Amino acid sequence: MPELRIIRSYAGVQDSHKIESYIQRGGYQALPKALGMDPDDIIDLIKRAGLRGRGGAGFPTGVKWGFIQRDSKKPIYLCCNADESEPGSFKDREIIEQDPHQMLEGIIIGCYTINSHKSYIYIRGEMPYGAGVLERALEEAYENGYLGKNILNSGFDLDVVVFRGAGAYICGEETGLLESIEGKNGEPRPKPPFPAQSGLFGCPTIVNNVETLAFVPHIINRGAEWFSEIGTPKNTGTKIYGLCGQINNPGLYELPLGIPLRELIDEYGGGVPGGRKVKAVSPGGSSAPLLTADELDLKMDFDTLSEVGSMLGTAGVTVIDDSTCMVRVAQNLAHFYRDESCGQCVQCREGTWWLEKMLTMIEEGRGRMEYIDTLLDACSQMRGTTICALADGCAMPVESIVKKFRHEFEEHIKLGKCPFEREHMGEWS
Ligand SMILES: Cc1cc2nc3c(=O)[nH]c(=O)nc-3n(C[C@H](O)[C@H](O)[C@H](O)COP(=O)(O)O)c2cc1C
Ligand code: SF4
Repeated sequence: MPELRIIRSYAGVQDSHKIESYIQRGGYQALPKALGMDPDDIIDLIKRAGLRGRGGAGFPTGVKWGFIQRDSKKPIYLCCNADESEPGSFKDREIIEQDPHQMLEGIIIGCYTINSHKSYIYIRGEMPYGAGVLERALEEAYENGYLGKNILNSGFDLDVVVFRGAGAYICGEETGLLESIEGKNGEPRPKPPFPAQSGLFGCPTIVNNVETLAFVPHIINRGAEWFSEIGTPKNTGTKIYGLCGQINNPGLYELPLGIPLRELIDEYGGGVPGGRKVKAVSPGGSSAPLLTADELDLKMDFDTLSEVGSMLGTAGVTVIDDSTCMVRVAQNLAHFYRDESCGQCVQCREGTWWLEKMLTMIEEGRGRMEYIDTLLDACSQMRGTTICALADGCAMPVESIVKKFRHEFEEHIKLGKCPFEREHMGEWS
């Protein structure tokens, strides 16, 4: 079955990042339509479409926009979250580099809806090419009257700026992102207040993911019913799934929400190389609890994965084959989160450090049997106890690996060494 390309209409198109290409593919037709609509009707449309945020949590976009008090005396901001630092996720990067006007049209419509006249695109520091593409796209949009004063003679004014981060994963967390734009360290804020009440510079703010915003023009153009008929009743539309790890055809695939994981891996990804078998799958970026080979028939949507204790997250799927050491996978994850913790919360700062330390000792054959339960205990103390979800993002996948692959931990400890050969472990090593 071919992909169902709504956002990825740019795939294979020459110079798809240029404004002429976007307009040729139907771009900037939703904007005049939206500018003629009542903002409440736009919110209602997005709610009826069932659009859920593609940044990880799947929060309904129309509901989030509805939280903004549009007659606030303070400025209102919309920040586009283009930080995309989650290991295993690379969908936003492609949208930015290949079709920046699509998300930009979504930003303009979003700003009109919430009565915002200033928007920031917060882009990860390691994406200088994408930042350049975005800056050129903004110039094109200003030249063509889609940005600036009195957009398309509607009386609506909007300025958008690109803000380059310095390359910290934590700046993808929405309040870490806001702190960073304010020129401070990217340290997440306790919530409440939520950004819709008190966000950037203490003003009402919406933070939305790149992919979320890219869907908006399509929903305005083609209607809520069209969108809500794709996918499953509570998980509507398509999703850009990323496939990486030990897989024959890594890449991005836009398909309806709810596609079975097995179909994604076998039909689109072409299965695992070298005739080996799937051992585990990280279904939604590195923060998602891992699934085993027995769970491949699950549907890839927010609700199904949450029901089995995992999550769709960014839908960045990493496939792990049976030659891989799961202790090493857990150690690698803990190393990343330990490195990226902003250090504000004890459970996160110390927890990620201890997880990495214990996992390293087990991997190197210096572990003791009691470490296994200590690992589980540390994970449970990290979950839901911190300012932001980074600590959960470390504890949840590590806990799932310890629980689902406990025998590998025991084997390491009994043997006093790792039973796997390093050279087979691909990008997890
Ligand atoms: C540690 C951490 C990192 C995050 N990184 C990103 C990111 O890079 N991009 C993103 O869109 N959301 C990221 N999020 C989620 C954001 O906080 C926020 O929920 C999202 O941008 C909201 O957009 P949406 O409603 O369109 O999904 C991160 C969350 C956490 C806890
Ligand atoms: S959970 Fe970790 S990253 Fe998040 S605020 Fe606390 S210390 Fe910082």
